[in-house]
Amino acid sequence: MRLAGKRALMIGAATGIGRAAAIAFAGNGAKLVIADINVEAANEAAERCREAGGAAIALACDVRDEASVKAVVDKAEEALGGLDTLAFFAGLQRTGPIEAFDAATWDAIFAVNARGTFFAAKHAGPAIRRAGGGSIITTSSLAGLRGAAGMVSYAAAKGAVIAFTVALAQELAPDNIRVNAVLPGWIDTPFNDPAIALMGGVEAHAEIVRRIVPLGRQGTPEEVAPMYVFLASEESRYVTAKSMMVDGGMAH
Ligand SMILES: NC(=O)c1ccc[n+]([C@@H]2O[C@H](COP(=O)([O-])OP(=O)(O)OC[C@H]3O[C@@H](n4cnc5c(N)ncnc54)[C@H](O)[C@@H]3O)[C@@H](O)[C@H]2O)c1
Repeated sequence: MRLAGKRALMIGAATGIGRAAAIAFAGNGAKLVIADINVEAANEAAERCREAGGAAIALACDVRDEASVKAVVDKAEEALGGLDTLAFFAGLQRTGPIEAFDAATWDAIFAVNARGTFFAAKHAGPAIRRAGGGSIITTSSLAGLRGAAGMVSYAAAKGAVIAFTVALAQELAPDNIRVNAVLPGWIDTPFNDPAIALMGGVEAHAEIVRRIVPLGRQGTPEEVAPMYVFLASEESRYVTAKSMMVDGGMAH
């Protein structure tokens, strides 16, 4: 019960890594709100969280819309009786050569990954300050640090998330609010289907993963979730402004 008494807003946690993190939060005693554009999946994830032993409700949220993000922060603070943690997972990926990216695609990727992170932290920050401090956890990617061919706008948006996280950590440290990014490597979710297609399909991708990931395989969402639990818990109270890689050793 490493998160006993913690109150968390988890945005983009209806599926994949966020869903696994939400279930891990619930299993560790947190009360949480799952906010996502996919309301049906968010409700299902909240149900799994309740089965894991934590109180959880689901709300609709589109992170591209600041009013929608502010509304879920307000509702979460009210429903949970305060807010200690924001964990942001919402992501959008498009792949292809740079010539194939137009302004609208570039903006769409930034709107979810980078601007969505900004809206969430902007509105959750004051709520966490009112609670006396806490933790903001963003989700970047190894691509945001190391780049990735065929993903220039996604890599740029995830790089922006890292810079944002470090700057915000400095800004909010006096309020006892820590801000850290999780950088997953290759994690097995349908999110990567376009990237896997670009790399020649499932078998070709598996071969590349065997070559570039020292542990020789993709990770699972459940193997990334404990990093979010750590960053939300008191165990990480001296950790801020960090990029925490969960990547099977790919960056070394
Ligand atoms: N899977 C990987 O290998 C990998 C690697 C590095 C980083 N990531 C990052 O991890 C995060 C989660 O990815 P995942 O693999 O679990 O994929 P996922 O598709 O399961 O999760 C993305 C979530 O974001 C939600 N979302 C998308 N647009 C939204 C919007 N406008 N408003 C609100 N919610 C929205 C989706 O409904 C979904 O629940 C993403 O930020 C992704 O960039 C994933």
